[in-house]
Amino acid sequence: MNIIITGAGKGIGFETAKHASESPNNKVLVICRNILEINKLKRENVKSVEFDLSNIDSYSDLSSIISDYFHSGIDVLINNAGQFLTKSFAETKQGDFEKMLNINLKSPYFLTQALLPFFNKNAHILNISSMGGYQGSLKFPGLSAYSISKGALCTLTEALSAELSELNIKVNALCLGSVSTQMFQEAFPNFEASANAQDMGAYISNFAQTGHLFYNGKILPVSLTIP
Ligand SMILES: NC(=O)c1ccc[n+]([C@@H]2O[C@H](COP(=O)([O-])OP(=O)(O)OC[C@H]3O[C@@H](n4cnc5c(N)ncnc54)[C@H](OP(=O)(O)O)[C@@H]3O)[C@@H](O)[C@H]2O)c1
Repeated sequence: MNIIITGAGKGIGFETAKHASESPNNKVLVICRNILEINKLKRENVKSVEFDLSNIDSYSDLSSIISDYFHSGIDVLINNAGQFLTKSFAETKQGDFEKMLNINLKSPYFLTQALLPFFNKNAHILNISSMGGYQGSLKFPGLSAYSISKGALCTLTEALSAELSELNIKVNALCLGSVSTQMFQEAFPNFEASANAQDMGAYISNFAQTGHLFYNGKILPVSLTIP
């Protein structure tokens, strides 16, 4: 399969890319701000593209690199790159809010749009959301901007699954609970995560390659504990 993973410089995205590229049948392209760690894997079936996803105006350059690499089209896009913010509602500035929406919502929206001509039939777009954005879940003080951005990503998933059905493209979201990464440690310094990045990366990689055979437009919680 031809697989794209965003934000694979570290954490869950890195582990997802590592797992997906273990199969020689897969060709993996990762989009990272920092390609140092991923390049250390030295895998022939992994191409790293150094790119800051906040540069949404340059997505057409990115899509030409991607279409040149995948001559036979894209099978899987994993919108994993994300940023986190802990700030009370009262202190959250417009800039903070925009940063959350830019990376967690606008980036998956416009990257998917830029890549639309290159998806194969029965391709799978997998958005990595959060339990914070899962409707009806327990919410935490200080996480309003982050949770809103992830909740909107879930709505985007549902909307695109309907709109892209005529192209036979499936779109799903996984709402992750706690996974031991730099992001989680900064968010909940006194809490032990219920999953590690390696196991979650393997789960996401497997789901991205098979989940579209069983699910479309689904918002799936992947969580053992709260948070
Ligand atoms: N860990 C959890 O408990 C948890 C829970 C729920 C949801 N999630 C979601 O899971 C995803 C992965 O999170 P994680 O825990 O692995 O976090 P992480 O360790 O902070 O990794 C986030 C990745 O996204 C990349 N990224 C951020 N902004 C970017 C940008 N502008 N351009 C390109 N790449 C960018 C980061 O790149 P750099 O290396 O350059 O910073 C990093 O590789 C996120 O969407 C997060 O919201 C995580």
